[in-house]
Amino acid sequence: MAQRRAGARKPVPPASPAEDLSPLLRADWDYVGPVALDDFGPADWALLRRQREPYYAAEQARQALRLLTCSADDASFGYRINNYRHCLQAATLAQRAGEDEETVVVALLHDIGFVACPDSHGAFAAALLANHISEKNHWMLRHHAIFQQVHMAAVHDPQIDPDARERWRGHPHFQWTADFVERYDQRAMAADYDTLPVEAFEPLVQRLFARPARNLA
Ligand SMILES: [Fe+2]
Ligand SMILES: [Fe+2]
Repeated sequence: MAQRRAGARKPVPPASPAEDLSPLLRADWDYVGPVALDDFGPADWALLRRQREPYYAAEQARQALRLLTCSADDASFGYRINNYRHCLQAATLAQRAGEDEETVVVALLHDIGFVACPDSHGAFAAALLANHISEKNHWMLRHHAIFQQVHMAAVHDPQIDPDARERWRGHPHFQWTADFVERYDQRAMAADYDTLPVEAFEPLVQRLFARPARNLA
Protein backbone atom coordinates (compact mmCIF):
# COMPACT_ATOMS: atom_id res chain seq x y z
CA MET A 1 0.00 0.00 0.00
CA ALA A 2 1.40 3.37 -0.95
CA GLN A 3 1.90 5.68 2.03
CA ARG A 4 0.24 9.05 1.66
CA ARG A 5 1.02 12.20 3.55
CA ALA A 6 -1.37 12.64 6.51
CA GLY A 7 -4.12 15.01 5.50
CA ALA A 8 -3.47 14.66 1.77
CA ARG A 9 -6.53 13.42 0.00
CA LYS A 10 -6.30 11.13 -2.97
CA PRO A 11 -8.40 12.74 -5.70
CA VAL A 12 -11.57 10.91 -6.62
CA PRO A 13 -11.08 9.60 -10.14
CA PRO A 14 -13.70 10.49 -12.71
CA ALA A 15 -16.45 7.90 -12.96
CA SER A 16 -15.71 5.38 -15.66
CA PRO A 17 -18.51 4.08 -17.85
CA ALA A 18 -18.41 0.90 -15.74
CA GLU A 19 -18.73 2.73 -12.41
CA ASP A 20 -22.25 3.06 -11.07
CA LEU A 21 -21.97 5.47 -8.15
CA SER A 22 -24.76 5.73 -5.61
CA PRO A 23 -25.95 9.30 -5.14
CA LEU A 24 -24.80 11.24 -2.10
CA LEU A 25 -27.37 12.63 0.31
CA ARG A 26 -26.22 16.22 -0.18
CA ALA A 27 -24.94 17.96 -3.28
CA ASP A 28 -21.94 19.45 -1.47
CA TRP A 29 -20.71 16.09 -0.11
CA ASP A 30 -17.96 14.05 -1.68
CA TYR A 31 -16.99 10.40 -2.17
CA VAL A 32 -13.91 8.75 -0.73
CA GLY A 33 -11.33 7.93 -3.37
CA PRO A 34 -10.25 4.33 -2.69
CA VAL A 35 -12.41 1.23 -2.80
CA ALA A 36 -10.77 -1.04 -0.18
CA LEU A 37 -10.53 0.07 3.46
CA ASP A 38 -6.83 -0.87 3.40
CA ASP A 39 -6.25 1.97 0.95
CA PHE A 40 -8.17 4.68 2.83
CA GLY A 41 -5.99 7.52 4.05
CA PRO A 42 -6.58 9.97 6.93
CA ALA A 43 -8.40 12.40 4.64
CA ASP A 44 -10.80 9.69 3.52
CA TRP A 45 -11.60 8.79 7.13
CA ALA A 46 -12.00 12.47 8.00
CA LEU A 47 -14.44 12.90 5.12
CA LEU A 48 -16.53 9.91 6.28
CA ARG A 49 -16.47 11.12 9.86
CA ARG A 50 -17.68 14.54 8.74
CA GLN A 51 -20.54 13.23 6.61
CA ARG A 52 -21.55 10.24 8.75
CA GLU A 53 -23.15 12.14 11.63
CA PRO A 54 -25.51 14.32 9.57
CA TYR A 55 -26.30 11.31 7.38
CA TYR A 56 -27.43 9.24 10.36
CA ALA A 57 -29.33 12.18 11.83
CA ALA A 58 -31.27 12.51 8.59
CA GLU A 59 -31.62 8.85 7.65
CA GLN A 60 -31.56 6.39 10.57
CA ALA A 61 -35.17 6.76 11.72
CA ARG A 62 -36.47 6.95 8.16
CA GLN A 63 -34.62 3.81 7.10
CA ALA A 64 -35.60 1.92 10.28
CA LEU A 65 -39.24 2.76 9.67
CA ARG A 66 -38.92 1.72 6.05
CA LEU A 67 -38.01 -1.80 7.24
CA LEU A 68 -41.57 -1.87 8.54
CA THR A 69 -43.41 0.01 5.79
CA CYS A 70 -41.98 -2.20 3.05
CA SER A 71 -44.27 -4.96 4.39
CA ALA A 72 -47.46 -2.86 4.21
CA ASP A 73 -48.99 -4.88 1.38
CA ASP A 74 -47.61 -8.29 2.27
CA ALA A 75 -49.97 -11.22 2.70
CA SER A 76 -51.07 -12.77 5.99
CA PHE A 77 -50.63 -16.50 6.62
CA GLY A 78 -53.93 -16.72 8.44
CA TYR A 79 -54.24 -13.90 10.92
CA ARG A 80 -57.01 -11.54 9.85
CA ILE A 81 -54.48 -8.76 9.26
CA ASN A 82 -50.84 -8.86 8.17
CA ASN A 83 -47.88 -8.20 10.44
CA TYR A 84 -47.60 -4.56 9.33
CA ARG A 85 -51.17 -3.80 10.39
CA HIS A 86 -50.62 -5.74 13.64
CA CYS A 87 -47.67 -3.45 14.42
CA LEU A 88 -49.69 -0.31 13.67
CA GLN A 89 -52.56 -1.60 15.76
CA ALA A 90 -50.31 -2.42 18.72
CA ALA A 91 -48.92 1.14 18.58
CA THR A 92 -52.41 2.62 18.30
CA LEU A 93 -53.60 0.64 21.33
CA ALA A 94 -50.56 1.73 23.34
CA GLN A 95 -51.01 5.38 22.41
CA ARG A 96 -54.74 5.38 23.19
CA ALA A 97 -54.01 3.76 26.56
CA GLY A 98 -51.80 6.74 27.40
CA GLU A 99 -48.43 4.99 27.22
CA ASP A 100 -45.37 7.21 26.85
CA GLU A 101 -43.89 8.01 23.45
CA GLU A 102 -41.07 5.47 23.78
CA THR A 103 -43.50 2.66 24.49
CA VAL A 104 -45.67 3.61 21.50
CA VAL A 105 -42.64 3.35 19.21
CA VAL A 106 -41.61 0.08 20.86
CA ALA A 107 -45.10 -1.26 20.15
CA LEU A 108 -44.87 -0.07 16.56
CA LEU A 109 -41.57 -1.88 15.98
CA HIS A 110 -41.90 -4.86 18.35
CA ASP A 111 -42.54 -7.33 15.51
CA ILE A 112 -40.47 -5.66 12.79
CA GLY A 113 -38.53 -8.92 12.38
CA PHE A 114 -41.51 -11.25 12.75
CA VAL A 115 -41.34 -12.59 9.18
CA ALA A 116 -37.68 -12.11 8.24
CA CYS A 117 -36.29 -13.39 11.56
CA PRO A 118 -39.18 -15.26 13.23
CA ASP A 119 -37.43 -17.30 15.93
CA SER A 120 -35.46 -14.32 17.25
CA HIS A 121 -37.75 -11.46 16.30
CA GLY A 122 -37.83 -10.04 19.84
CA ALA A 123 -34.05 -9.86 19.95
CA PHE A 124 -34.13 -8.36 16.45
CA ALA A 125 -36.31 -5.44 17.60
CA ALA A 126 -34.37 -5.10 20.85
CA ALA A 127 -31.10 -4.77 18.93
CA LEU A 128 -32.62 -2.21 16.55
CA LEU A 129 -33.77 0.00 19.42
CA ALA A 130 -31.19 -0.82 22.09
CA ASN A 131 -29.40 2.51 21.93
CA HIS A 132 -32.54 4.56 22.41
CA ILE A 133 -34.89 2.79 24.85
CA SER A 134 -35.08 1.93 28.53
CA GLU A 135 -33.80 -1.32 29.98
CA LYS A 136 -37.43 -2.12 30.83
CA ASN A 137 -38.56 -1.99 27.20
CA HIS A 138 -35.38 -3.66 25.97
CA TRP A 139 -36.01 -6.62 28.29
CA MET A 140 -39.68 -6.71 27.33
CA LEU A 141 -38.86 -6.87 23.61
CA ARG A 142 -36.41 -9.72 24.10
CA HIS A 143 -38.92 -11.76 26.14
CA HIS A 144 -42.31 -10.81 24.70
CA ALA A 145 -42.69 -13.87 22.47
CA ILE A 146 -42.19 -16.22 25.42
CA PHE A 147 -44.64 -14.23 27.52
CA GLN A 148 -47.19 -14.50 24.72
CA GLN A 149 -47.36 -18.27 25.16
CA VAL A 150 -49.63 -17.88 28.17
CA HIS A 151 -52.25 -16.61 25.72
CA MET A 152 -51.85 -19.68 23.51
CA ALA A 153 -53.10 -22.36 25.88
CA ALA A 154 -55.32 -23.97 23.23
CA VAL A 155 -52.55 -24.42 20.67
CA HIS A 156 -51.51 -28.00 21.68
CA ASP A 157 -48.02 -27.62 20.28
CA PRO A 158 -45.06 -29.17 22.13
CA GLN A 159 -43.08 -26.00 21.31
CA ILE A 160 -45.60 -23.85 23.23
CA ASP A 161 -45.60 -23.80 27.02
CA PRO A 162 -48.17 -21.48 28.63
CA ASP A 163 -46.04 -21.49 31.78
CA ALA A 164 -42.83 -20.57 29.95
CA ARG A 165 -42.79 -17.08 31.41
CA GLU A 166 -42.85 -18.40 34.98
CA ARG A 167 -39.08 -18.81 35.03
CA TRP A 168 -38.92 -15.00 35.23
CA ARG A 169 -41.63 -14.53 37.88
CA GLY A 170 -40.28 -11.94 40.31
CA HIS A 171 -38.04 -10.25 37.72
CA PRO A 172 -38.39 -6.42 37.84
CA HIS A 173 -39.74 -6.34 34.28
CA PHE A 174 -42.00 -9.42 34.52
CA GLN A 175 -45.22 -7.50 35.10
CA TRP A 176 -44.53 -4.89 32.42
CA THR A 177 -43.81 -7.59 29.85
CA ALA A 178 -46.96 -9.50 30.81
CA ASP A 179 -49.01 -6.27 30.62
CA PHE A 180 -47.60 -5.21 27.24
CA VAL A 181 -48.31 -8.59 25.70
CA GLU A 182 -51.82 -8.80 27.19
CA ARG A 183 -52.89 -5.23 26.34
CA TYR A 184 -51.12 -4.34 23.10
CA ASP A 185 -49.82 -7.49 21.44
CA GLN A 186 -52.03 -10.57 21.70
CA ARG A 187 -55.20 -8.60 20.95
CA ALA A 188 -53.86 -6.36 18.14
CA MET A 189 -55.24 -8.52 15.34
CA ALA A 190 -58.61 -6.94 14.54
CA ALA A 191 -59.49 -6.18 10.93
CA ASP A 192 -62.18 -3.69 11.90
CA TYR A 193 -60.22 -1.60 14.41
CA ASP A 194 -59.72 2.11 13.77
CA THR A 195 -55.94 1.80 13.50
CA LEU A 196 -53.85 4.95 13.02
CA PRO A 197 -51.77 5.25 9.83
CA VAL A 198 -47.98 5.01 9.98
CA GLU A 199 -47.71 8.76 9.37
CA ALA A 200 -49.13 9.33 12.86
CA PHE A 201 -46.07 7.64 14.35
CA GLU A 202 -43.30 9.04 12.14
CA PRO A 203 -42.51 12.06 14.37
CA LEU A 204 -42.30 9.76 17.40
CA VAL A 205 -39.85 7.46 15.62
CA GLN A 206 -37.77 10.45 14.54
CA ARG A 207 -37.60 11.75 18.13
CA LEU A 208 -36.71 8.33 19.55
CA PHE A 209 -33.76 7.83 17.21
CA ALA A 210 -32.61 11.40 17.84
CA ARG A 211 -32.06 10.59 21.52
CA PRO A 212 -28.43 10.32 22.63
CA ALA A 213 -27.21 6.77 22.12
CA ARG A 214 -26.93 4.61 25.23
CA ASN A 215 -24.32 2.38 23.56
CA LEU A 216 -26.04 -0.81 24.70
CA ALA A 217 -26.19 -2.49 21.29
FE1 LIG B 1 -43.77 -10.78 18.60
FE1 LIG C 1 -46.85 -8.87 18.13
